[in-house]
Amino acid sequence: MKVLAINGSARKNNNTDILINCIFEKLNAAGIETEAVQFAGTVVTPCKACFACGGKENCIHQKDIFHAVFDKMKEADGIILGSPVYSANVSANMQAFLERAAVVCDMNSGLLTHKVGACVVSARRGGALNAVDAMNHFFLNHEMFIVGSTYWNMAYGQMPGDVLKDEEALSNMDNLAENMIWLLKKIEQEEEK
Ligand SMILES: Cc1cc2nc3c(=O)[nH]c(=O)nc-3n(C[C@H](O)[C@H](O)[C@H](O)COP(=O)(O)O)c2cc1C
Repeated sequence: MKVLAINGSARKNNNTDILINCIFEKLNAAGIETEAVQFAGTVVTPCKACFACGGKENCIHQKDIFHAVFDKMKEADGIILGSPVYSANVSANMQAFLERAAVVCDMNSGLLTHKVGACVVSARRGGALNAVDAMNHFFLNHEMFIVGSTYWNMAYGQMPGDVLKDEEALSNMDNLAENMIWLLKKIEQEEEK
């Protein structure tokens, strides 16, 4: 079993990454393989609305990271979408990624069906719920199962590492990981029947 995390932050190895790694630690301890992709240092271009992806199962434009990441997404059993809050929503890279992934899924049905999804958000102060909603809407639109926790999956912090001081968020991430493990294992059992 494998979980892929896609991190929309413009900064490498920072707050969003810390949240993802909290979840990965528990997933790894449960024997689940993990991989993280970071968009930092790269630009995901928006959807060109060409609709040429029908029957291709991926975007036909291959000049940026999208194609490779979407291939990984199709292979994964679980997907974590992580974004910092930028202007009260997900980062522009995450938004561009979701636009393109959504069109590919619309034009090629069933690519993400029954995969497990969770999102994590880091924010300084405002807009975290908008970002959570944006990423959960993607999961909901593509027949995925969303995993929740005891609070929405957000953490507060501005400078690199600040989210480590948000103890409630960190324990929420642990719980999110437990729920993700539970659901992934149930689905695996069901598929083995
Ligand atoms: C371009 C930009 C816009 C931001 N807009 C917001 C915002 O609207 N609300 C907020 O709470 N934080 C905002 N922040 C702060 C980040 O969300 C916060 O620092 C977050 O922890 C960064 O996560 P990272 O370390 O994974 O990049 C913004 C940061 C940047 C660089």
